[in-house]
Amino acid sequence: MAVTARRECTHARTYLMCPPEYFAVEYAINPWMNPDQPVDVQLALTQWRRLGEVYRSLGHTVRTIAPEPGLPDMVFAANGATVIDGKVLSAQFTYPERQPESAAYLAWFRQQGYAQIVESAVTNEGEGDLVFAGRAILAGHGFRSDEAVRDELTALYGLPVISLRLTDPRFYHLDTALVVLDDDTAAYYPAAFDDASKAALASHFTELVEVKDEDAEVLGLNAISDGHNVVLPEQATGFIGQLAAAGFNPVTVDLSELLKAGGGPKCCTLELR
Ligand code: ARG
Repeated sequence: MAVTARRECTHARTYLMCPPEYFAVEYAINPWMNPDQPVDVQLALTQWRRLGEVYRSLGHTVRTIAPEPGLPDMVFAANGATVIDGKVLSAQFTYPERQPESAAYLAWFRQQGYAQIVESAVTNEGEGDLVFAGRAILAGHGFRSDEAVRDELTALYGLPVISLRLTDPRFYHLDTALVVLDDDTAAYYPAAFDDASKAALASHFTELVEVKDEDAEVLGLNAISDGHNVVLPEQATGFIGQLAAAGFNPVTVDLSELLKAGGGPKCCTLELR
């Protein structure tokens, strides 16, 4: 198979991350979480630091937000807000265990002097479900975010919103079942979506990579693309090959400790656009 040359010029990105100092699995709000299974916080920190080093080695900037005790899932910065064009839409978490994270992230954006911050009135888990795709925003719903967030997204960002219904509880956030690789290309796990959503994806993207069960089941799609380099879990061996065949550069990391909470590299990362 011929390797497609990617013309996309990768520009340097800025990512917000939150160190897993208070990481734990103390409650179960997704099928990956088992409070009886021990987690190694030191290992989580080591794996998380490595992810930051990988971003820096690719030329990106990493900024950090201070973690707060009692918020073990705050490491999953993707859920903290939505940021497009410097405009911030706050998150409103479904489960009480995570609700205080919204204010913690909002305070960070205020301190940093972001001028346009909108406090959402609708349940939404930030970029876990709201995924920027260049000419549109993909909005996952079914488990965590309310479909009604569409109106706030349209008002704030002026972009079309494509609502996608998630159907498999293991893939409870859109970023566990789909990754936008560039404006025209995405990879996804078809079994995690209803038929109308699969059709909507097929009509939006010119190229859709279908990921196999075994790669989806290690959260292989919880990946970050800069248009050329794709940072993804090393366990997703089949998807690594698919990315290379499609002309992308797969860069692997191991976040096995964070997977115990149902998270991967993308969950730990909020792009500051
Ligand atoms: N334990 C967290 C939760 O269930 C994991 C969040 C993962 N974040 C993400 N962007 N998919 O809410």
